[in-house]
Amino acid sequence: MLAIIGGSGLAQLAGFEISRRHMARTPYGEPSAALSFGHLAGRPVVFLARHGDQHSIPPHQVNYRANLWALADARVLGVVAVAAVGSIRADLKPGDLVLPDQIIDYTWGRPSTFHEGPDAAVAHVDFTEPYDHALRRRLLAAAAAIGTRLGDAAVYAATQGPRLESAAEINRLERDGADVVGMTGMPEAALARELGLPYAAINVVANYAAGRSESGAGISLEAIHAVLAGSMQQVHALIERMLSDDE
Ligand code: HPA
Repeated sequence: MLAIIGGSGLAQLAGFEISRRHMARTPYGEPSAALSFGHLAGRPVVFLARHGDQHSIPPHQVNYRANLWALADARVLGVVAVAAVGSIRADLKPGDLVLPDQIIDYTWGRPSTFHEGPDAAVAHVDFTEPYDHALRRRLLAAAAAIGTRLGDAAVYAATQGPRLESAAEINRLERDGADVVGMTGMPEAALARELGLPYAAINVVANYAAGRSESGAGISLEAIHAVLAGSMQQVHALIERMLSDDE
């Protein structure tokens, strides 16, 4: 069974037949929402709304540990996370989809490891390649099969939020080598790795990052939501195809 973590613009999966909802309890508290178990494209799937069913939990207050723990506890074989991003690179336009292949973490103050506490052993997971190769390959194959453009590499910068970045911060992220910027990719990806869960992210470009739009205008939430609403159909199609390609 595959897990889908839905981000902004994806609080529900169209065509997803839910058979059971379960509010998980974990040693880290409750996840963002009840886990929804069901079928998509005839395959078993569990869906979790990262920001809660009502989109009420901001990125820095998401209980990432409870979310990942609950999914691991449900015995999922992998996690596909959907997340909106701002684009730093001119060739990634609002509405585009891209699979990040690297991460830079600028978040702070978020509980970001399972390996702490009085009884925990010191542990350092390998994070050289933050995203799972096999899941990325399956998503790329699904995109090719349905003719959806899906960028196959991007460096994802995870910022703290909930505010958007300044133009100078975006310039710095670009100098650091980042292509897209979002607020939820970390510690989500690292926690998945700590639990041994294969993890890949579909980034949906919602806007040009701060200071990067041609008009020079600021970033409006209305525009972001409109772009996301338009792109989620593609995300659905991609995930459905990926699932139906499954053996
Ligand atoms: N910055 C950070 N996170 C985001 C953005 C952005 O411009 N757009 C969507 N999520």
